[in-house]
Amino acid sequence: MLSRVTARALSAPSAARFFSASAAHQTKVAVLGAGGGIGQPLSLLLKSDPLVTSLSLYDIRGAPGVAADVSHVDTASEVKGYAADQLDQALEGVKVVVIPAGVPRKMTRDDLFNTNASIVRDLAAAVARVAPEAHVLVISNPVNSTVPIVAATLEKAGVFNPRHLFGITTLDVVRAARFLAGVTGSTPDKTVVPVIGGHSGATIVPLLSQTPLGKGVTGEAYKALVNRIQFGGDEVVKAKDGAGSATLSMAYAGAKFTNSLLRGLNGEKGVVTPTFVKSPLFADQGIDFFSTNVELGLDGVEKIHPVGPLSAEEEALLAACLPELKKNIEKGKAFVA
Ligand code: NAI
Repeated sequence: MLSRVTARALSAPSAARFFSASAAHQTKVAVLGAGGGIGQPLSLLLKSDPLVTSLSLYDIRGAPGVAADVSHVDTASEVKGYAADQLDQALEGVKVVVIPAGVPRKMTRDDLFNTNASIVRDLAAAVARVAPEAHVLVISNPVNSTVPIVAATLEKAGVFNPRHLFGITTLDVVRAARFLAGVTGSTPDKTVVPVIGGHSGATIVPLLSQTPLGKGVTGEAYKALVNRIQFGGDEVVKAKDGAGSATLSMAYAGAKFTNSLLRGLNGEKGVVTPTFVKSPLFADQGIDFFSTNVELGLDGVEKIHPVGPLSAEEEALLAACLPELKKNIEKGKAFVA
């Protein structure tokens, strides 16, 4: 009789299928903006991810140098860098495109709009042209507006697939877990907090009541914690004193989300994380992009989870989020229209 372990191994996808270079598991990942403060450490972290088989690094400056450097790391993936005039080549055969291209903020995320809107639109147009099936992960701020810009650009080109577009809000989730761990004296693996809404100030809505340790934080401590999660990015902007915004923690968060997506694309079940996607949850209020927990699967967005039960404080946070988020989304759409 087969042992239980052997029987399970045989019923699981065979090792040959799992590790073969079949199309399903060729995960070529491109980083657009790879020469920047986020792009460089993100490229390094992606080089360390065994689920990435090939890494394509593009920037209007510096990507070949970053690629040469990162390519010496002793993991299996191949790395290639592309110069400013090689965007289309950089996107060939790519399954996942991560976009940290643009300028970082000095003050608010919205002040970046004019510069980053056109950068993101032009990159999305190239994705539509060369890799229309790719999953697109948008880091460039303001995410609440750049994601609708990418969606509208892909839609114009007739290739928009809402399952394949993600705004990266993972840094808010990472900060929430870290800050709650600090307040409760616990560890971040025990303080995972769903963060919903969007990615800027009042649109960031942490649901502390849905985390056992978060529920215990009340009164002034609660208010301070929520404020720190919503405006944590400002701590970094201030400390860097004019030199930019979060890059290292953002690279970590970007690599973490990319790994979650790749696990889902490779068939792992139960991969659930918040991300800013085309969502039906508040569409009746004219808000058709929203972040909640999303299950990631073989074709990207598998299932959008509802908001779940909210405390009275969280109801108020959500009420403050929605009108601002709506404006940000409309601004993105208007830019492309
Ligand atoms: P950075 O200025 O250090 O790097 C940006 C890179 O983009 C530069 O290397 C630049 O050459 C490149 N670039 C500019 N135009 C390009 C184009 N058309 N094609 C390809 N590359 C292009 O900025 P940093 O700090 O890396 O930030 C990048 C973006 O990420 C900013 O918009 C920032 O606000 C955003 N961000 C997002 C966060 C999030 O949680 N989603 C957190 C932190 C930053």
